[in-house]
Amino acid sequence: ETTVNQQLIDFHEQAAKLYHHILVNTEMGEPALKYLNDRGLSDEIISTYNLGFAPDKRLLLPFFQEKKADFQLLRQSGLFIENQEGQLRDRFSGRVMFPIRNQSGKTIAFSGRVLVKAENSPKYLNSPETDIFNKRKVLFNFDIARAAGRQTGDLVLFEGFMDVIAAYRAGVKNGIASMGTSLTSDQIVAIERITKKLVICYDGDEPGQDATNRAIGLLNDEPNLNLNIVQIPERLDPDEYLKKYGSDKFQKLITGAVETPIGFKIQFLKKNRNLDNESEQLDYINDVLKVLVTLSSPVEQDIYLNQLSSNFHLDKETLKQQLSDLRQTMP
Ligand code: GTP
Ligand code: MN
Ligand code: MN
Ligand code: MN
Ligand code: MN
Repeated sequence: ETTVNQQLIDFHEQAAKLYHHILVNTEMGEPALKYLNDRGLSDEIISTYNLGFAPDKRLLLPFFQEKKADFQLLRQSGLFIENQEGQLRDRFSGRVMFPIRNQSGKTIAFSGRVLVKAENSPKYLNSPETDIFNKRKVLFNFDIARAAGRQTGDLVLFEGFMDVIAAYRAGVKNGIASMGTSLTSDQIVAIERITKKLVICYDGDEPGQDATNRAIGLLNDEPNLNLNIVQIPERLDPDEYLKKYGSDKFQKLITGAVETPIGFKIQFLKKNRNLDNESEQLDYINDVLKVLVTLSSPVEQDIYLNQLSSNFHLDKETLKQQLSDLRQTMP
């Protein structure tokens, strides 16, 4: 006897297979296949990730009806949307399909990307929450990444699915991504079960830096997780960086990540500040000291104090004094 959840997973497995077939074997799939090839995805990687295409027509509904699938289960699957009259139609159409897998590698949801960005439809459309898909718990690529991460000793957190896949192409197979949202406590728990080190590699643009800053804040209370930050230059995202600079440089950028959360913060605090202006510079230095005062390691503090002192031509003893003044005012 199969449970409801097993049947829902089975629907998703079958749907993924069908979407993949449409992409790689049919004329309908040709524009999407060309799109993916143009973005640097080989047939092999398309198979590895079981990417697919949902054409702009009825596909899943007739397929499952022919198999006499239970209507109630189809409604529950999230693969369809229901109109006022209670009729179903395919949720995804005209999109490249990214299967979202659970920890056992089974497809439990999809994210679909439009081929051409249009005003009125989202770039990525995700499956709704269902009995088998809780987007706060799922991490894209976690099944592959967890095996790879046990070898490398770390996981790499990206913003997007295409970044995770780009990393895989470059030989970095321990990449994960949340479902387009900030990290949740459930996801943090899942990460900590695998590794003690997380590399955050969000997009190099401003939203990516803001997201990095937020993630650092979220992970602040996780003493068991060491963080390193990668900042992609030129405001590129990881996928764009790979395309522009190739696998070797990409690998070096990720595996050579040394920047600490504090190092990132010190950079980040410069945002929207004119450091040539004396009072803004003072503000900035004060904010940096407020970050440094939270450090428990005196050696680490010393490293950043040296940097601050040399960057702003300030007497280190003065900075130290101000730091200890700040410490007095701490609760
Ligand atoms: P590409 O344009 O395909 O390279 O995607 P990207 O990953 O670079 O997209 P972007 O940096 O804009 O967004 C990062 C992630 O946010 C994506 O991978 C999605 O998970 C999510 N996201 C982006 N746009 C949308 C959207 O319109 N709707 C939803 N639900 N999620 C989105
Ligand atoms: Mn982005
Ligand atoms: Mn964007
Ligand atoms: Mn991006
Ligand atoms: Mn991108």
